[in-house]
Amino acid sequence: MDIFCCRLLDTVFAIFLGLCLALLLLFFKSFFWKQDIRARNLPRGSEGWPLLGETLAFLWPHRSNSFGSFLQDHCSRYGKVFKSHLFGSQTIVSCDHELNTFVLQNEERLFQASYPKPMHGILGKYSLLVVSGDLHKKLRRVAVNFVTASKSSSEFHRCVDRLSVSMLESWKGRHQVAFCKEAKMFALSLMVKTLLSIEPEDPRARKILADFLTYMKGFVSLPLYIPGTPYAMAVKARARLSSTVREIIEERRRTSSAAEMVSIVLDILLGGYETTATLMALIVFFLAHEPASLLQLKEEHLAIRQKKGSEEPLNGEDYKQMEYTNDVICEALRCGNVVKFVHRTGRLTISSGWKVFPIFVGTHLDLTLHENPMKFNPLRWKDKAMSKKVMPFGGGLRLCPGAELARLIIAFFLHHLVLSFRWKTEPDDFPIAYPYVEFKRDLVLEIEPTENHS
Ligand code: HEM
Repeated sequence: MDIFCCRLLDTVFAIFLGLCLALLLLFFKSFFWKQDIRARNLPRGSEGWPLLGETLAFLWPHRSNSFGSFLQDHCSRYGKVFKSHLFGSQTIVSCDHELNTFVLQNEERLFQASYPKPMHGILGKYSLLVVSGDLHKKLRRVAVNFVTASKSSSEFHRCVDRLSVSMLESWKGRHQVAFCKEAKMFALSLMVKTLLSIEPEDPRARKILADFLTYMKGFVSLPLYIPGTPYAMAVKARARLSSTVREIIEERRRTSSAAEMVSIVLDILLGGYETTATLMALIVFFLAHEPASLLQLKEEHLAIRQKKGSEEPLNGEDYKQMEYTNDVICEALRCGNVVKFVHRTGRLTISSGWKVFPIFVGTHLDLTLHENPMKFNPLRWKDKAMSKKVMPFGGGLRLCPGAELARLIIAFFLHHLVLSFRWKTEPDDFPIAYPYVEFKRDLVLEIEPTENHS
């Protein structure tokens, strides 16, 4: 019995040991296999300094119509897709158009928008860029409905026309204008008027503008919540903006909660005002350096104006005639790169937790996709396949809902600009990606009225 007991214990122990060993082996096998798969599937690259990674080099300012030395250097060393360490996370950086399309088209399935945590403090918890799933769908629908209604409303067309004319009227008698500032005022006044029915002269419009400028500065600042820092001021400006906007929309609220509605209004303001103003500035800059494109643009608008009374406002039918104008806008989006990249996180086992950055500038200036990519040439848009080779408005579930609205606003503004003024830029001024595009010298223009506007 004793011997039997001992043998039984030995056998149980042996089986137990065997099982443990097998489990251990399985664990190690799967661990190393995963490691191996990970290593085999991850692109080459470098992770830079501990903690800091390569963030500073990645953010190093460069002309927005160029790759910048970081992308140039890494792409030539590792190829269009490489690994790095950016904003505190291991990151796969992609300048490959096919991969970028794949990432954006698989939002919520394989990838997810993931903007850095400090940005959430400024954007607020209901921002479209922060929420996902059903809440994203619901809030996005409100934004899309707003944009769709505005885009086709004759009241909105008249408003864009009137604001363009009054901005250019205010240039009369001047020899110089700081265009970036003018464009920001124009875009914000338009958004505030359309979203909240507030006239640019209303004191609340000035309050919103002042708070918005502080709010925007928070995006390009260090996320330090210490009183007096741009970040802390931006968070406070957002709170003030929220209460101003809340007061205005309280009585117009329908299906969404007040907090959600306020957030949508701020999203549309944030998404629409700075980007539209930047694109206006880029177009004005490129046209100043491409007289042939400017001439062709002017001819298109002269032809449109000749069919109308001299002060008759533009309408939807006129917009349909602005084909070359739209090619100019597309080309400025490709060359100027208003949005350099977007933030995503992988949800796949292999890339789970890794950030993925689809870099738009990488594909917009890709030699294998575009002939002479650094050249501003609107005529390349005669090729209808061009729209499949760029993604200035992103793609997939988060495709910019304001794309068409921005095009229409800018087309109307360009109509009045090219018919009213000639302009020159300063020799040492150009667009820089910080990564938000700014002009080195605020795009100060030397202006002169055209014959029909003197
Ligand atoms: C030149 C003009 C513009 C450019 C280049 C631009 C670019 C973009 C890009 C790239 C995204 C995608 C972000 C991502 O995937 O993470 C986006 C999203 C967005 N844009 Fe625009 N945008 C422009 C104008 C506008 C305008 C005029 C509006 C509003 C009237 C607007 C409202 C938005 C909103 C609300 C989102 C968030 C969409 C979502 O997450 O579902 N944008 N924009």
